[in-house]
Amino acid sequence: MGISQNVVFALFLCLVAFSPSVFGRPATFLQDFRITWSDSHIRQIEGGKAIQLVLDQNSGCGFASKYQYLFGRVSMKIKLIPGDSAGTVTAFYMNSDTDTIRDELDFEFLGNRTGQPYTVQTNVYAHGKGDREQRINLWFDPAAEYHTYSILWNHYRVTFYIDEVPIRVYKNNEARGIPYPKLQPMGVYSTLWEADDWATRGGLEKIDWRKAPFYAYYKDFDIEGCPMPGPGTCASNPNNWWEGTAYHELSPIEARRYHWVRQNHMIYDYCTDKSRYPVTPPECVAGI
Ligand SMILES: *[C@@H]1O[C@H](CO)[C@@H](O)[C@H](O)[C@H]1NC(C)=O
Repeated sequence: MGISQNVVFALFLCLVAFSPSVFGRPATFLQDFRITWSDSHIRQIEGGKAIQLVLDQNSGCGFASKYQYLFGRVSMKIKLIPGDSAGTVTAFYMNSDTDTIRDELDFEFLGNRTGQPYTVQTNVYAHGKGDREQRINLWFDPAAEYHTYSILWNHYRVTFYIDEVPIRVYKNNEARGIPYPKLQPMGVYSTLWEADDWATRGGLEKIDWRKAPFYAYYKDFDIEGCPMPGPGTCASNPNNWWEGTAYHELSPIEARRYHWVRQNHMIYDYCTDKSRYPVTPPECVAGI
């Protein structure tokens, strides 16, 4: 390579390495994220490609993306606290940080006593309205190995995936007057904390501090989306891959897997909680 080519190549590398971008690339933790709660409880491992989150009696911890995004897909691999994790909550979510008109998409992993299954709770806030909890038990031990947890968010639907399995769909039913998160960019967040007043068996099972410190692990951080502030046209570009027809509705294979989860692993659905919602919420009636 001549000197000018070298310069061009170096510039290209800088762009790839330092710009938040719509093209995906394997990211180190610090490229896309910052620590938001307790530096001393987040350790970078594997050269910054993975992190260890620590919960002990002094503190939990948390991190957030440096940028906010409007539409896209966020995914990461997580290995949850093994053994006795009762009373702990590990969360991975997107949030608009706008209090009263908040949009939020949540994964919360509720710990359990040794041998009892973790519960995954999801929730969706649109224009400030949440209270849309669903809960499933997992079909594998999420502390034995890393599994991929992702949120795909486009103009048509929000889909929560565990590995290749869609576990929740929130469809854009704006045409029927149902709010859909569409106008506000969201940041990506994660926290590990103690919540033994509600997390496990409704708060009956308390955290056992003799088992502390508790460790969860994250790696393969992948955010592909439209960073905001950024080019105003990105979010409305129909050519973004996550807006493709394959992501307008579930494929037949995905629909089968989704059905399987709901049949075999769902333990709570606000849609069918008559004591809480005597009138079925409209988005539940509208279907996926
Ligand atoms: C913990 O295990 C119990 C008993 O199997 C189960 O009922 C519960 O759903 C599990 N998860 C939580 C978060 O309590």
